[in-house]
Amino acid sequence: MKLTLVLILGLAVPASAYLPSLLEKLWPSYEGNVFDEVPTIPYKDLVTDNLYVDPSVLMAMKQFGFFYVGEVPGYNASVELDYLQQFFNLPEELKAGTEIRRHNPANKNAYRGYCPGLDDVDATLQYKNLFNIGPHETRAPISEDNILTGMDKLRYDIHEPNVWPQTGDCAFDKEFKEIFQKGFEFRQTIARKFVQSISRSLDLPKLNDLFQEDEFSAMGLRRYPKRDRINTNMYSDFDGTLLRELEHIDSTVTVLTTFDNGGLQGLYKNQYRNMPATGANSFVVMIGKLVDDLVDNQLFSVKHRVIETPFDRHSITYFLGPQFDADISRSVTEERRLTEAGRKYTIFGEWIKDYLGAIELFYY
Ligand SMILES: *[C@@H]1O[C@H](CO)[C@@H](O)[C@H](O)[C@H]1NC(C)=O
Repeated sequence: MKLTLVLILGLAVPASAYLPSLLEKLWPSYEGNVFDEVPTIPYKDLVTDNLYVDPSVLMAMKQFGFFYVGEVPGYNASVELDYLQQFFNLPEELKAGTEIRRHNPANKNAYRGYCPGLDDVDATLQYKNLFNIGPHETRAPISEDNILTGMDKLRYDIHEPNVWPQTGDCAFDKEFKEIFQKGFEFRQTIARKFVQSISRSLDLPKLNDLFQEDEFSAMGLRRYPKRDRINTNMYSDFDGTLLRELEHIDSTVTVLTTFDNGGLQGLYKNQYRNMPATGANSFVVMIGKLVDDLVDNQLFSVKHRVIETPFDRHSITYFLGPQFDADISRSVTEERRLTEAGRKYTIFGEWIKDYLGAIELFYY
């Protein structure tokens, strides 16, 4: 095939070593869909620490920066999609009780719960609705005279309990809560088992030590409403494609659900390619910059984006970070290199503080 192309184009190519890069320039898709080679790991094997999964996970994380987890017993993405849509379709007044306090000053919740997003299509790149779920249902009360300050206050703040819809339809409220509590557990388990697998493969038990407590993971039910006109800020600087979610690299560990939606693309060999949708029963797993830095960049944090879609697009994100006190300033290898985050922060709690500041600016 390579030879044929060269002959058709009548090019004199001095050495076969130059072929791949030349062909990619001339015919960027000549490799076919390389992402077909990205493995899907059965959930059961990942969570039972079946060691055969380790080389596949490692290969995928070095070569592509993501992989799939499938065959998840008791998980049905279409049930999640159904309840997610039912919630977003409720009248605003029924959702108001779960709104974050920046939207609804009558509420106490700052991070967990419903964030309606901005209505002005042109003013924001982040035109979406969000419902945020975390790992806590309750929080230990603090006594009146115990005034928390600094990091103690932040630690208290991030342990914010979940809020759940109270719509007057008890069956819906109960099912919504149960479905997404269970969905949260699937994703949390996948993220932690993935960290364990990578820690074994790279022989870096200290990586896993940073993920002993889940103090602030976040699952986001998302709706990207169809835009009724083009936001000209959303053209890709890279290749001019109109985007719905700008090109970015994540920070921590990501477990993503895209349902049957196309549109998610990953950068591989200098070209954005379609990442297969997660469908009825699987998840995409990726790592971000912070985690890759912790292992001296031995893995690959994939740059990705979502192209504009002519329909309301739904997805569910889940992010797992290290525990609050985890030292993220140095890598967990023998070299103990200064990480990029380490120029500014020592522990993950400090990082979270700025991160929350940034997402508040963006989303709320
Ligand atoms: C998943 O749930 C949908 C209903 O939302 C149902 O139609 C479908 O049969 C379920 N799939 C499986 C494999 O249980």
